[in-house]
Amino acid sequence: MNKKFQKTLIILLTLVLAFPLTYLSGSNLSVFASGKNNINSTHGELSYSIKKSTKAKKKVVKKKKKSTKILTPKPTLAPTATPTPAPTPTPVPTDSIATAYSNYFALGVATPARLLNDATTRSVVVKQFRTITMENETKPDALLDYNTCSSNPSLYNTNPAVRLGSFENYLKIAKQYGLTLRFHTLVWHSQTPRWFFAENYSKDANAPLVKREIMLQRMENYIKQIMECAKKYPDVIYAWDVVNEAIEPADGLSNGLRTKSSLWYQVVGDDFVEKAFTFARKYSYDKAGLFYNDYSEYSANKLYYIYNMLKSLKDKGLIDGMGMQSHINMENPTIDQYEAAVLKYASLGLEINVTELDMHNNKNDSATLQLQADRYKALFQMLLKLKKSSSANITHVTFWGLRDSDSWLTWFNKETSYPLLFDASCNKKPAYDALMSLVQ
Ligand code: G3I
Repeated sequence: MNKKFQKTLIILLTLVLAFPLTYLSGSNLSVFASGKNNINSTHGELSYSIKKSTKAKKKVVKKKKKSTKILTPKPTLAPTATPTPAPTPTPVPTDSIATAYSNYFALGVATPARLLNDATTRSVVVKQFRTITMENETKPDALLDYNTCSSNPSLYNTNPAVRLGSFENYLKIAKQYGLTLRFHTLVWHSQTPRWFFAENYSKDANAPLVKREIMLQRMENYIKQIMECAKKYPDVIYAWDVVNEAIEPADGLSNGLRTKSSLWYQVVGDDFVEKAFTFARKYSYDKAGLFYNDYSEYSANKLYYIYNMLKSLKDKGLIDGMGMQSHINMENPTIDQYEAAVLKYASLGLEINVTELDMHNNKNDSATLQLQADRYKALFQMLLKLKKSSSANITHVTFWGLRDSDSWLTWFNKETSYPLLFDASCNKKPAYDALMSLVQ
């Protein structure tokens, strides 16, 4: 090889080697950086370029890391405390009217014991209501024990025998099914047998009645025994109907007290209401309120006397609440009239319980049931308004009966009545749906 040829060969070789280096420099490195490789390179410099590209890749990754560090927003500090779980949404109450109303007031039902013994009706009571009132079973004629009293009248003269076992049974049932109980009723002219007021507990229609002092002791000890028995089941009784239906303006007294049909009035005198509340206060043991309970409580005539009597009891610290029985019909009272009565009683600072709600209606066709539903809805709309605005402390609303077929109104009016939320087969009536629509 001559020198000239050698020189040319060196130049050519240099050029061949220099090309891939030039090609691989600069922006072309990005191909590697982007993760793609140059496997298509057909040049003999593959090993070199891979080496070089690996180096470059590392450099780029390093650069990238750096820039990632800068660009990534500062991570939020990991919480040190246990994260609060998202609040569980309040379950939508779809099938229990008492659950649906639980933010406002407790819904209850009056029931005879037989409906609690029957599994089908009991399940409706337990599912749909929070509280019960025994329709007849905790009234004086059910709890006073005639056989024991009359077996030894002098022994029991001032301390009447009471069927506490029977009473306790209802406390147990309520507790077992998670219900609370309204005690109805301690002192009432009706469903209180004459023998309770008679000397020697005699059933003779002409037997003389005992003196006031004896009767007051009987009253006190009757209340005492019942309240002490209930004390064994704390929190089961939420309210006591201490006195029921003591006002009867037609009897003509200036204080409106019932006289003609009331042996309490005739034997004790016109302070029997105050005495009953005094004893109830003396033996009451927890937060269960002491209530006066009456019907037609929204009519102007009765409201006037009831209000005055409650004011006097309230001023003496003897009463906690007014039980508005609320046996209404399809026309009376108007919702406005009823609202005015609630506000009047509430103005005394008393808790309000609707205690015996039903709406007499003698027709069962769909148009009438819809009218009934509308009226129930209007009534509850007003009650909810008063409750939400704190205009009245309404805490419980009780229906006087579960099914239409159980209602006392059929017997009382001598015509079939359809006054309640469930029909004879425990089906929900339009009134039920109307009340649900207000709170869902
Ligand atoms: O069901 C029988 C019927 O088959 C029979 O033919 C008829 C014969 O008298 O008696 C019917 O039973 C009557 C039952 O009510 C029907 O529900 C009882 O005799 C009767 O004594 C009983 O009346 C009770 C009434 O108080 C007595 O004062 C009701 O059950 C009871 O719902 C009702 O409740 C009162 C509250 O305690 C106080 N506020 C008013 C409310 C309604 O009157």
